[in-house]
Amino acid sequence: MNYIILGPPGAGKGTQAKKIAVRFSIVHLSTGDMFREAKKSNESISKLLSSGQLVPDEIVVNMVRKRLEKNNIKKGFLLDGFPRNVKQAEELDRILMSENIKIDGILLINVPFEEAVKRIVGRMVCVCGVSYHTLLLPPKESGKCDRCGGALFHRSDDKEDVIRDRFSVYEKQTKPLIEYYKESRLLIYIDGLKSESDVFEQISGCIIGGR
Ligand code: AP5
Repeated sequence: MNYIILGPPGAGKGTQAKKIAVRFSIVHLSTGDMFREAKKSNESISKLLSSGQLVPDEIVVNMVRKRLEKNNIKKGFLLDGFPRNVKQAEELDRILMSENIKIDGILLINVPFEEAVKRIVGRMVCVCGVSYHTLLLPPKESGKCDRCGGALFHRSDDKEDVIRDRFSVYEKQTKPLIEYYKESRLLIYIDGLKSESDVFEQISGCIIGGR
């Protein structure tokens, strides 16, 4: 069972991908998470992330290729944040063909810019991977992760001007993927404005129903 999850910044891709991976026992492959790890030791990646610009295609594609060659994805995977433009989608098609892997569906979560900004400016994350929202999903104790007790922090790209730039990158580079994938009939449209649990039910229903 192999899926791709697409959508603008703040659509809820990461939130849903983590839950889907657990529910269906598949691997969550998030390029954003991989780069947030890589930026700790790589200044140029750190600069690109903080400014909301994309990491060069060759770097991303090589990284994803290595992950898709690993055995632990044999039960299935959910690609979150990749592909991000048509060039990456074409490269992904080549990798999938050479590994004999088929994609079962492409989940497209949509939310308008205003909602995404509201969600992102309030987002607080923990190094253990759990994400909170100061108003919508606050931790039990302010500034502390419910799961591991770690200190919560804001992502360096979660500032309003950078969110604007990330959205514009999405509009220019990622949105054309909708056209790219239209003919494949794999696109599944998800209403991201619903509550977190409703979105999860929508997605789960599509996956269980074979879409
Ligand atoms: P990435 O991490 O992929 O960032 P993004 O696409 O901008 O997405 P976000 O993580 O901001 O949002 P999300 O949709 O996951 O929302 P979330 O679930 O967190 O990429 C980061 C950077 O890495 C890129 O800018 C680029 O530099 C680089 N990069 C990554 N992939 C790349 C690639 N392929 N090529 C080149 N560069 C690449 O939710 C957001 C908030 O909303 C949370 O607080 C959450 O609690 C809340 N929330 C979620 N769902 C709901 C809901 N239904 N109702 C209310 N609140 C909700």
